[in-house]
Amino acid sequence: MDSQSAFGPDFTWGVATAAYQIEGAAQEDGRLPSIWDTFSHVPGTIDNGDTGDVACDHYHRWPEDLGLLGKLGVDAYRFSVAWPRVIPTGSGPVNPKGIAFYDRLVDGLMEAGIRPFVTLYHWDLPQGLQDLGGWPERDTAYRFAEYAAVVAGALGDRVTDWTTLNEPLCSSWLGHLEGSMAPGVTDLTAAVRTSYHLHLGHGLATQAIRASAQRTPSIGIVNNLSPCEPATDSDEDRAAAERADGHINRWWLDPIAGRGYPEDMVKLYGVDLPIQEGDLETIAAPLDYHGVNYYFRQIIADDPGGPAPHIRQVEVPGATTTAMGWEVYPEGLEQLLVRLTREYGAKQIFVTESGSAWNDVIDPAGVIDDRERVTHLEDHLAACARAMDQGVPLAGYFAWSLLDNFEWAYGYDKRFGLVHVDFDTQVRTVKASGHRYAELIRESKARSQP
Ligand code: IFM
Repeated sequence: MDSQSAFGPDFTWGVATAAYQIEGAAQEDGRLPSIWDTFSHVPGTIDNGDTGDVACDHYHRWPEDLGLLGKLGVDAYRFSVAWPRVIPTGSGPVNPKGIAFYDRLVDGLMEAGIRPFVTLYHWDLPQGLQDLGGWPERDTAYRFAEYAAVVAGALGDRVTDWTTLNEPLCSSWLGHLEGSMAPGVTDLTAAVRTSYHLHLGHGLATQAIRASAQRTPSIGIVNNLSPCEPATDSDEDRAAAERADGHINRWWLDPIAGRGYPEDMVKLYGVDLPIQEGDLETIAAPLDYHGVNYYFRQIIADDPGGPAPHIRQVEVPGATTTAMGWEVYPEGLEQLLVRLTREYGAKQIFVTESGSAWNDVIDPAGVIDDRERVTHLEDHLAACARAMDQGVPLAGYFAWSLLDNFEWAYGYDKRFGLVHVDFDTQVRTVKASGHRYAELIRESKARSQP
């Protein structure tokens, strides 16, 4: 793949995971439930009644998983810390066994020469804090900053790369508006307040990490973004696409860029933002990088009868779609990276997640020849290269995901891994896409050698 020459010697090649999706050991060593433990145990919420109780059993098998990282030859590993493992009720006493787990993991990564990228919040709010009101309450943002200080204090002598939040859109719109994710709330006011307090938590946590980490940190936030295009040329659909852009992109990018919340969306939601003096400055704390998670674009039609923001996603006729039903559209990644650079002045960007789920087949010889995932990976890297050619300061790419894992409401049926996991035996098998990723990394490194 010629376009790969865009990736120079400093480009970071990585893979990503998240705690609740892989760790398992849900009740071990002092961990208490998060909102995802609670939600996944409600009958009917998750396909097949799956839960993250065991997941990939990574809590016990992390040395083997570290070996897989070595096989892939990645430079970096993006994982999340489970808040309910470290501070089980969300505030108050720290659980030394929880910290010890991440200590071991970080030590193992350092020994293997793999750079740890630590995400503090990938959706697993301690249930104890949910019981006090959760993210719609301001206090949760302060508790998050305390937790950030604890983790940065414990790991910040080795870890330099930090992410405060992963995809706050999902916690807000899916968790509190649509109710398809934990905590399963369907209330616009709660959703808007959640988004605000997540942003505040991000700003406060950024300060806390800077104050607590021994090594100078590089801190960012990870947003899942989608280009939004009108389904037709009608005024109504074009206005709907603009609202979708507000809901999906601008609401998440404007405040952290110091632009406050987009006025059209504030008016549309009609929910008072609980802004206190100094908050907007805290939220806009200088970022070292933007993390972009990209999966699909959105083709949007007006939906006047639907709930705010009155938009409907329309299927693209003839499009190739993944097992999730998501359109494969690598150009969307290029567009987002260019936009983030030109419109938001991003100085450093990481693609913190890009990947796809397919109905993988294991042949009798145990080989998983996941051609669609290979093509998806190559095409998205080519999109990154094109973006870099246009001046995008892209510093790295993290494939989602290292392992097949607990795909939230879809349970274990939707497989995103470069490595297959047999959930009965926990046997891991590198798929063709994993081998191809390793090859691409090797080639890129060979090319960039003096
Ligand atoms: O599995 C998720 C991940 O937790 C967050 N980003 C999207 C992935 C695929 O749905």
